[in-house]
Amino acid sequence: MSKNDVSTTSVMADYIVDRIGAGKVLLDRVPLSFDWTPPELVGRDPELSELASMFLGIGSDGVSGRAVIMGQVGTGKTVLTKRFGEDLTRALDGKRRIVVSHVNCRNHPSTSQVLQQIAISLDSRHPERGFSSGEIIQSIRRNIRSRRGHLLLVLDEVDVLIRRDSHDLIYKLLRIDEGQEGHGSLSLVLVSQDSNLLEQMEPAIISRLGESNVLRLRPYSAEALVGIARQRYEASCRSGSFSGEVLEKIGRFSAETGDARLAIELLEAAVRRAEEAGRGEVLLEDVTPSTIRTASLEPSQIDVLSDHQKLVLLGICRRLRKEEEVSSGDARKLYELVCEEFEFKTRSYTTFWKHLKTLEKQGLVETRSANSTVGRGRTQYITMTNIAPAGIASRVEKEFAKRQK
Ligand SMILES: Nc1ncnc2c1ncn2[C@@H]1O[C@H](COP(=O)(O)OP(=O)(O)OP(=O)(O)O)[C@@H](O)[C@H]1O
Ligand SMILES: [Mg+2]
Repeated sequence: MSKNDVSTTSVMADYIVDRIGAGKVLLDRVPLSFDWTPPELVGRDPELSELASMFLGIGSDGVSGRAVIMGQVGTGKTVLTKRFGEDLTRALDGKRRIVVSHVNCRNHPSTSQVLQQIAISLDSRHPERGFSSGEIIQSIRRNIRSRRGHLLLVLDEVDVLIRRDSHDLIYKLLRIDEGQEGHGSLSLVLVSQDSNLLEQMEPAIISRLGESNVLRLRPYSAEALVGIARQRYEASCRSGSFSGEVLEKIGRFSAETGDARLAIELLEAAVRRAEEAGRGEVLLEDVTPSTIRTASLEPSQIDVLSDHQKLVLLGICRRLRKEEEVSSGDARKLYELVCEEFEFKTRSYTTFWKHLKTLEKQGLVETRSANSTVGRGRTQYITMTNIAPAGIASRVEKEFAKRQK
């Protein structure tokens, strides 16, 4: 290596240290990963209790449980089963030996691949080739019973397995102890995004799963998403680097879909932006959905609005060019000013409110209620996340200015 090469290396090292070392905001990247299982789930206590109730008596030998968990993308299905598996194992420590096997059927979509994954999690040799699935299941059973254990098997994204290889494996697993000595070898948890999962199954499987053992996870509310973002921020960033306001913005944006993964992505992207700018504090402007979701609305969508709907929107947009949100009270005052400017007679408060709700229904604005009550009714705070306020404002302004000529 020549001298030149060495000096180049040291220059590179500086930039690399700047970028990959502990940052001004970030202390530990691990909790920002989707695979990190948080010590506690945010806002899922009722669901965890419900799941536990499907495993009533699981502490005793001979008892097993069944559960079907369904919910849209990012509703915490996978993490819920991981948390439950760990908590159950710990709770029964010294009482009953639980072995958790979590198989993602998207990564291992065939019957033989799933069986191989179960075998690996039991720490056994790979299932011998040339045996039928029924035979491999029995060898898995022998393994569990010989160590006096109980297998908690989670088949995640199970719809992929079913589409490819039908229900055969699930049926066989549900009957693992049938005609054998001793019961309660295996508990089965099926997980899927598909809300029609059960409809596709045969009555014999449904009756063995138990129709009441179904847990449906609802998309997260903005509040829960703020909690999820906060938990990850606290586990990964310097204290004080995020304000409550910034976390609330993340919650608001991701509440559009209720997907926890979106909240985590926005958090991570915001950390990256602050780090790149060399700041120790994450600002509201670091949270932008543009990198993840493109604008989902077309500016032309406003052309079909009525005059007063446009005027309400214009008032709001003017304020949102400079600020994150506007209160409903201010939105009303801004609307009055806009009416005066373009010589329209202001409509009643009730009509104004109706227009605001129409704009919300069309996805042009979002509102959230504040805790405080001011004047009549609750104050609402209005934001726009789907479209840039500046573009909308100038479009409406141009239209009204033209009409005044
Ligand atoms: N209640 C929660 N508390 C803390 N973190 C959560 C919670 N719910 C989800 N997360 C986190 O959000 C991310 C997405 O959750 P998860 O992978 O469990 O969703 P999913 O419903 O399995 O999604 P998919 O349908 O795409 O498989 C994970 O990183 C998970 O740790
Ligand atoms: Mg999942």
